[in-house]
Amino acid sequence: MTILPSHHHNLTTTTTTTKSQMPNHQKQSPRATATTTTTARYSFFSPKLSVYLCAICVTLFILFHIKILQTPIPSSPNSLSFLHNWQGKLSANDDPTSCSDTLASMAENLRNSVTFLPLKDLRFANSALVGHTWFMSSLYDTHEEGEVQYQQFPSKQSNGRILCMKGNDNHDGSWNYYALAYPNFLPKNATLVPGRTFVSYNHYDFGNIWHGLSSLVPFVAWHIKSTCAVPDRWILYHWGEVRTWMSPWLSTLMEATFNGPLNIEKFEDVDESSTRCYEEAVVMRHNEGGMSREKRMEVYDLIRCKARGMCGVELDRTGDEIGMTLFMRTGARSFRNESAVVEIFERECSKVETCRLTVAYSSNLTVCEQVKLMASTDILVSPHGAQLTNMFLMDRNSSVLEFFPKGWLKLAGVGQLVYHWIASWSGMKHQGAWRDPEGDHCPYPDDDRRCMSIYKNGRIGYNATYFAEWASRVLNEVKLRKDEEATRNKVPTKCACS
Ligand SMILES: *[C@@H]1O[C@H](CO)[C@@H](O)[C@H](O)[C@H]1NC(C)=O
Ligand SMILES: *[C@@H]1O[C@H](CO)[C@@H](O)[C@H](O)[C@H]1NC(C)=O
Ligand SMILES: *[C@@H]1O[C@H](CO)[C@@H](O)[C@H](O)[C@H]1NC(C)=O
Ligand SMILES: *[C@@H]1O[C@H](CO)[C@@H](O)[C@H](O)[C@H]1NC(C)=O
Ligand SMILES: *[C@@H]1O[C@H](CO)[C@@H](O)[C@H](O)[C@H]1NC(C)=O
Repeated sequence: MTILPSHHHNLTTTTTTTKSQMPNHQKQSPRATATTTTTARYSFFSPKLSVYLCAICVTLFILFHIKILQTPIPSSPNSLSFLHNWQGKLSANDDPTSCSDTLASMAENLRNSVTFLPLKDLRFANSALVGHTWFMSSLYDTHEEGEVQYQQFPSKQSNGRILCMKGNDNHDGSWNYYALAYPNFLPKNATLVPGRTFVSYNHYDFGNIWHGLSSLVPFVAWHIKSTCAVPDRWILYHWGEVRTWMSPWLSTLMEATFNGPLNIEKFEDVDESSTRCYEEAVVMRHNEGGMSREKRMEVYDLIRCKARGMCGVELDRTGDEIGMTLFMRTGARSFRNESAVVEIFERECSKVETCRLTVAYSSNLTVCEQVKLMASTDILVSPHGAQLTNMFLMDRNSSVLEFFPKGWLKLAGVGQLVYHWIASWSGMKHQGAWRDPEGDHCPYPDDDRRCMSIYKNGRIGYNATYFAEWASRVLNEVKLRKDEEATRNKVPTKCACS
């Protein structure tokens, strides 16, 4: 925005002195009307004051136009003639009521200038996840090096404007809309929703605990960064479509982290055409992307700590026990011969005096039972699958052993690495993966996509020699670490944000 230096000074000083009057005029409250009348009466007796006040109207009018249109003010000769034009009008027409008329029409213009855009921008369909994403594509994220990427409203970046939303479509995100508006000039019929709203964009699925967690991690990072501020409600979107549910595993962990029940907006009695503007909103659309490993570890530390607190699990373990847990699946990617696998790990565990083996099924444990189990696990032995997301609930530096059925390697792409990633992000040690060389035969060429559904549902065999050597190596490493740690003075764990 370029303004001539001489005018610039005048403009800024006048705005500051009159700012407080603005909202009153717009609300049309009795007090506001009174103010207007008084002003009018004064100006009737004092032509000088009247000119002064109208000059304020004009400068405000110009300022707001600059802000709304977000366009640089026209080059200096034009802007000068624009001012002269208005000053000319003023001296020609000294009618005091024109001042409040100008203010009223300015307010009207501001309200009407709020422009709604579709939440899902189809132009970015081919790059739905990168850069601006197809969600709220016209807005930029705030991102400092190593920190979470987020949008916050109102903020300096939004010029003090708040986020407004329209629509509750759960099939097509291009039928839901967003806009920014000044809090005192909300669009007609808009409802102001008080408190802090977390708006989550998830490209995948809030029912999948791995993908769901990825999209919620940045809120926890923001919470730590923002002096532990908590949300009053959540709005969930998938491709811009409203979602009203997340996996109970996720909601339980979020309730623990944010100290209270999760209030997910269901838009039940909200008309699809009604506009809701949020007093404060925090929007996440990039998962944990951009966060440094340290920041991610802080987040997982906090969720782990809060989850243990909520589930009544000791924050710090006592004793020198080494917990080895076989975390089993049923159906797809389960072990073909479970008892054979259990036998192998049992044998190795029994060779280490402090080792204790637990066999559990992820599908029949409550969230708190999972939290409790992980708190006493140092070595997690489990097939590739969502249940492995639980690994971050173990103490830091714990170990993970992962298993894949035949064929997974070629077709799963980066998806096969997600548990390596979460191990690294949460400070765990991924001790490698075993890939079954045998399994169901795929009648198509090995890299044919059709093989994926066969392999994905495949079951996992075993190699007794390999498993025994692997278990023994990891057990000895963990024992060494534990012995070494036992000689150190441990500082009791305290959750951040409590
Ligand atoms: C605002 O609400 C009133 C009453 O419900 C309705 O008559 C009017 O059309 C609405 N205006 C807009 C712009 O939606
Ligand atoms: C599973 O393994 C055990 C021990 O190695 C063996 O005795 C048993 O026959 C196997 N069961 C099946 C169904 O293959
Ligand atoms: C857990 O699930 C497994 C497999 O579905 C079942 O055999 C076992 O009885 C279940 N255990 C409990 C405690 O429900
Ligand atoms: C984890 O291991 C690293 C390297 O051995 C060590 O520096 C760190 O203190 C350990 N962290 C915890 C929480 O035990
Ligand atoms: C089992 O593992 C051992 C040790 O890594 C290896 O030498 C052997 O070839 C494997 N057996 C099969 C059948 O893959």
